[in-house]
Amino acid sequence: MPVIEINNLTKDYEVGFWRKQKVRALDGLSLTVQPHQIFGFLGANGAGKTTTLKLLMRLIFPTAGSARILDRDISDVSMHARIGYLPESPYFYDYLTAREFLNYCGELFGLDTSVRNARTEELLTRVNLDQKSWDRQLRKFSKGMLQRVGLAQALVNDPEIVFLDEPMSGLDPVGRREVRDLIAALRDEGKTVFMCSHILSDIEVLCDSVAILKGGRVARSGSLEELRAQETNAIEIIATGADSSALKQVLSAKAEVTSTPSGIRIEVADEKDVDSVIAALRKIGGKLVSVQPVRQSLEDLFV
Ligand SMILES: Nc1ncnc2c1ncn2[C@@H]1O[C@H](COP(=O)(O)OP(=O)(O)O)[C@@H](O)[C@H]1O
Ligand SMILES: [Mg+2]
Repeated sequence: MPVIEINNLTKDYEVGFWRKQKVRALDGLSLTVQPHQIFGFLGANGAGKTTTLKLLMRLIFPTAGSARILDRDISDVSMHARIGYLPESPYFYDYLTAREFLNYCGELFGLDTSVRNARTEELLTRVNLDQKSWDRQLRKFSKGMLQRVGLAQALVNDPEIVFLDEPMSGLDPVGRREVRDLIAALRDEGKTVFMCSHILSDIEVLCDSVAILKGGRVARSGSLEELRAQETNAIEIIATGADSSALKQVLSAKAEVTSTPSGIRIEVADEKDVDSVIAALRKIGGKLVSVQPVRQSLEDLFV
């Protein structure tokens, strides 16, 4: 059973002085997310990722279509007790300290004082916020520190599904790595993570399945493996010791030959030509370094 089901979701923003012009931000979006996995919602700036999350969180309302989370319609906000949300640009009460803010969030979910205090410390530790900052006001925090507080806030009710809008934004490389590990740990605990990002590498290393959003529609979706396999079954051969122009002549149309710093790269479109290419290579004194399928990166696919 999917835990998130989005059906034909459409959103027009009304813009202009009289609000007469319409901008279609989402155009009949449909997708499902299975439990206990990290789902990556990928798209360039302006693709409609944040709009989708805001609709799911009931911060804005759809022009058409519907969605269900944990088998409840999104209009049933009592389901919010079971989910967590990190907005794209969280705005916090910045005169509160990190500890006070998390305590306050816990109170909104009706947690007891003792549970709240314990959970606050547990989460601030978990997001690696330096203990010296726990009792400092949020207005003195850097963007990266606020992002950590935002993540802690999204977990305060021990949610079954966590929605994260660009969770790595504002973090340095070490911070990104820590947040990445944290997200992976959430899945290991059995939670479902729905994360938006325009950073391919973050999605590529973390997500079990992915939807690529383009102009408010899903352009591609599936597991990462499926998406990469779809495009090509070419084979890449790396070799050294051969003259690339000589090789080009021998192979002519069979393969594409390029020189790279690690040797000659030969791309063969069809697997049945691999043996003859290797034979031709050996004949002119080349040494085989590797033979492997061409794995399309998520970046190739995205572009
Ligand atoms: N409040 C708004 N009013 C008008 N247009 C908006 C509003 N919010 C977003 N948009 C437009 O909707 C489209 C999708 O935006 P958004 O959901 O923020 O994309 P993403 O998060 O993928 O970068 C963009 O073209 C954006 O300009
Ligand atoms: Mg966004």
